[in-house]
Amino acid sequence: MVASPTLRRISVTLEHNPYEVVIGAGGLNRLGEELLAAGIQPGRRILVISNPDVADPYGEVCLQSLQQQGFNADLLVIDAGEDRKTPATVASIHDAAFEHRLDRSSLMLALGGGVVGDMTGFAAATWLRGIRVIQVPTTLLAMVDAAIGGKTGVNHPGGKNLIGAFHQPSLVMIDPDTLSTLPVREFRAGMAEVIKYGILGDDELFQSLEEGPAPDSAAGLGSDRLETILERSAAAKARVVAADEREGGLRAVLNYGHTFGHVVETLCGYGTWLHGEAVAIGMVAVGQLALNRGSWTAKDAKRQKQLIQRCGLPNAWPDLDPYAVLHTLQGDKKVKDGRLRFVLPTAIGHVEIRDNINRDEILRCLDQLQG
Ligand code: NAD
Ligand code: GLY
Repeated sequence: MVASPTLRRISVTLEHNPYEVVIGAGGLNRLGEELLAAGIQPGRRILVISNPDVADPYGEVCLQSLQQQGFNADLLVIDAGEDRKTPATVASIHDAAFEHRLDRSSLMLALGGGVVGDMTGFAAATWLRGIRVIQVPTTLLAMVDAAIGGKTGVNHPGGKNLIGAFHQPSLVMIDPDTLSTLPVREFRAGMAEVIKYGILGDDELFQSLEEGPAPDSAAGLGSDRLETILERSAAAKARVVAADEREGGLRAVLNYGHTFGHVVETLCGYGTWLHGEAVAIGMVAVGQLALNRGSWTAKDAKRQKQLIQRCGLPNAWPDLDPYAVLHTLQGDKKVKDGRLRFVLPTAIGHVEIRDNINRDEILRCLDQLQG
């Protein structure tokens, strides 16, 4: 008899839609059982949405796990590059929902990275005014960030994720075994978000990444260390989401490194840097801004930069026109009432939100980063 894997559990304690993030190697085989445990009745229709990179290795095991527990599961394979994260692709998911006669008791299940997760979540949020969704993330970035917290959506030609809805999943199932097929560059991009959680609230997590073998691949980390990283990161995200589900205030701390990161993504051209790589560069940049303000120390700035490097991530600011940077910053979604908002580090494990940063400070910071 094969022993059941030990699963770690994190509760996302929302008032109206509480749910669990379940983490464990082999978890994909336990998906059907976990859905039953989450109160989903056997016989329900479930449309599993995935893309070829993920459906080929994991689609069948996912379907089997659901069907064995009596769910009426089918697989829809879509193209899911960032350039296909569009209303048209969501419409194709709705077409499949119609063909498979998904009713209000049915579910959609996202099996893939953040692109599949965001689109499936949005399709579920809008089908019949909202049916339940299950997130089964298969990239590190989606495991620690995108799958948790209910932000769903697609891109508009005017910008990323401009069309969307909050729609919390009923369950998030993280099976770290699926990371074995993820390209290492994608894994490292996910590590940027893990470092982010260390800076914004978990100094022990940060320190653990500084010690032992470099955390720059799933295989190199080993299963126990990897699961602990997943657990602490998911717990960090769950805490913030539970405190501020709709980003009224605190949730904005999750944008640490993202304001400058967004500039890097936009000005270098989408596709030059992966999102996580741009966030890594953005964290170094905002670290310099905080250093100039005297709000954190040169020692902590150095530790952050070294850890980013240790994870195989870029940490050098690209050669960009400072005025183009300012212009792009003004167009950022995080601009509130015309004031630029930054999440600034104050220590390893602590950040603050500031909207009193002026143009000259930013220009000085950019000059130092490029010099
Ligand atoms: P992604 O979904 O594009 O996946 C990256 C690549 O890895 C793709 O080519 C995919 O096919 C492949 N892949 C996925 N899992 C695999 C596996 N196990 N084995 C082999 N290949 C695999 O990228 P991502 O980084 O996961 O997600 C980025 C998206 O997430 C962006 O669109 C971003 O806007 C969104 N996002 C959303 C939130 C949120 O809160 N909803 C948070 C962060 C990011
Ligand atoms: N990734 C940012 C958030 O979920 O709010």
